[in-house]
Amino acid sequence: MRKFISVFVMYLMVIAAVSCSLTVGAQHLSVEHRVDSVLSLMTLDEKIGQMNQYSGFWEATGPITEEGDKLEQVRNGMLGSMLNVTGSGHTRQIQEMALQSRLRIPLLFGQDIIHGYRTIFPIPLAEAASWDLQAIEQSARIAATEASAAGVHWTFAPMVDISRDPRWGRVMEGAGEDPYLGSLIAAARVRGFQGKGLGNTDALMACGKHFAAYGAAIGGRDYNSVDMSLQQLNDVYLKPYKAAVDAGVATMMNSFNDINGIPATANQYILRDLLKGSWGFTGFVVSDWGSVGEMINHGYVTNEADAARAALTGGCDMDMESRCYIKNMKQLVLSGIISESLIDESVKLILRKKFEMGLFDDPFRFCSEEREKQQWDNPQNRAAARNIARKSIVLLKNENKLLPLSREVRTIAMIGPLVKAVGDNNGFWSYAWPDDSARIVTQWQGISNRAGKNVKMLYARGCGITEPDTSGFREAVVAAMNADVVIMSVGESANMSGEAKSRSNIHLPGVQEELVKAVCATGKPVVLLINAGRPLVFNNISGNSGAILYTWWLGTEAGNAIADVVFGDYNPSGKLPMTFPRTEGQIPVYYSYLNTGRPPKNENDLNYVSAYTDLPNSPEYPFGYGLSYSTFSISEPVPDKTVFSPGEEVHVRVIVTNTGETEGTETVQLYFRDKVGSLVRPVKQLAGFQQVLLKKAESRTLTFTLTDKDFSFFNDKLEFRSEPGEFELFAGNCSAIEKGVSIWLK
Ligand code: GLC
Repeated sequence: MRKFISVFVMYLMVIAAVSCSLTVGAQHLSVEHRVDSVLSLMTLDEKIGQMNQYSGFWEATGPITEEGDKLEQVRNGMLGSMLNVTGSGHTRQIQEMALQSRLRIPLLFGQDIIHGYRTIFPIPLAEAASWDLQAIEQSARIAATEASAAGVHWTFAPMVDISRDPRWGRVMEGAGEDPYLGSLIAAARVRGFQGKGLGNTDALMACGKHFAAYGAAIGGRDYNSVDMSLQQLNDVYLKPYKAAVDAGVATMMNSFNDINGIPATANQYILRDLLKGSWGFTGFVVSDWGSVGEMINHGYVTNEADAARAALTGGCDMDMESRCYIKNMKQLVLSGIISESLIDESVKLILRKKFEMGLFDDPFRFCSEEREKQQWDNPQNRAAARNIARKSIVLLKNENKLLPLSREVRTIAMIGPLVKAVGDNNGFWSYAWPDDSARIVTQWQGISNRAGKNVKMLYARGCGITEPDTSGFREAVVAAMNADVVIMSVGESANMSGEAKSRSNIHLPGVQEELVKAVCATGKPVVLLINAGRPLVFNNISGNSGAILYTWWLGTEAGNAIADVVFGDYNPSGKLPMTFPRTEGQIPVYYSYLNTGRPPKNENDLNYVSAYTDLPNSPEYPFGYGLSYSTFSISEPVPDKTVFSPGEEVHVRVIVTNTGETEGTETVQLYFRDKVGSLVRPVKQLAGFQQVLLKKAESRTLTFTLTDKDFSFFNDKLEFRSEPGEFELFAGNCSAIEKGVSIWLK
């Protein structure tokens, strides 16, 4: 009895000390001290509870395995986090339940705030086409402000997976094919989401995902295996994740795929050796939905207990939705298979973030109905969404200056299945609000509003998105015949790209190509708006229309942004963040390819060279491509030295001039080629870009600064090194630049 009393007294003393430190003198106690204090009070069950995450009761974002009473587990401290719970009311309600647990440890509420919450911004791939890092950061900042006002603590973003395969539906969620651009965008999005730092009530914990190389799924088939050399993995695919870590990302999410035979969920090389080891990441890793348990399907483990063992040993700290941790981890510890110190490591990482978010000091600090109302329909947020949306539009073609529309136009026919689409404009990973039909500016509304009352607007749907029915063609052709100009809006539906939306055929679905041909056959000038979450193949119709705008999915302000460009209120400046293939058979096609021993001399050379006999090697549109209503000349790069040493800066000057008739923005891109290496090197690599707004006839001298670090790569020993030799520099308005200038590294 005496022993029990002394233990109980000690327990009370520790509780008093911790609660005192947590409430009164918390400021002077370090987070580490507070974490250790709470950990010292926790039972093994409570520790494992922190490593357990369930989805809430609203939109599920993965296969639901409904088991047990989630809320009972919340009350008993058997959950560390929930996802898919939003709203200050809902989160308060569930947080109150969590505070009924013995140690009153608050929950983390996570959510896929990918490109906006209440105000929806362009899909991330569209934003990447803006090449405007400030606008991209602001987009994430606004998303964080809106979502944190709705009780969300943690976003499962940015998705930074490099991908060179548009069959993969999740290209819509990332920043395209290039590690240099992708790394800058990853860092911008982390800064945007985390703002002035965790602990501010408008800051979200960001989450770099999906770690790693999820975008290299074989065949572009979602969740498929990834198989590549460690050199390629480090030199291309890992760079944006590293950029997110260097930008201070709070958490990382492992991907579903296996990498060279080891599932990312349990892959010690990427999770422990790199991420938590040489990269110095101090946050925690959450699994992707059910990926712990899915290692049974992979054939990597025999059962859920083995899955829990492998995942934790591999470096995964929190188990989203598989329940392998909560159901097996205790037994693994009691049977000595898993050391409790490994559990403690993960729990401390999770508790640390809860302290940093201020949730121990005030678990309801994000549940402010007042703040939620303030952020609910903020006009500044819509203005920012419109701004980046118009910057994301890429002008692919503009014959005879069809765009911007002439002021003489008196009748416009808008034709196509997406002209009056509402929710589709938001793209995948967005929220459908009950009042969307009143809030989202459709393409019809945007164009009609901007055209004004002196312009007659005609409309014909023409056909569906996927349906084979052509009975609407006649009405469409009649509308076209009665118009001065036709604006067609075609493409995929929003849910044809995104998670689990890989497609083997990425042509325009249904009979849309036939509709475009029928309307173009009228001889009327046609502007084509192509809406998609990925590069589509449309070479069968690209010759028919006079102008093509790639409008992706642009969000709440889609119609206004498109109207801004169509009527010339904004001179388009978007540049493709992904190569557009001529056809699916060309995939993977990307600008940073290796030359091979038999490169074709030209597009007609088929004499024992690396080429298809039925298709040129060049893409439909290259990485970095995008036209303007103006034209620009870009000089060859002029380095201030042609021979340089390691560590020495080379300053490269490029003169860009607006040679057109109207003010416009050009994105001047600098590429290089390492002519000879211990490993063969790509024919081009992006090493810099600068966006300049120039008036008519205005010139600007840009300076790019390079060192040998920019030319470094992971060699076959995985050492990140530069090598002496010749480097060719290219400057231009896209990646398809032939002529370069050489410099030599000693
Ligand atoms: C999904 C996605 C991941 C998302 C998570 C939670 O399966 O792969 O990107 O963050 O589950 O919704």
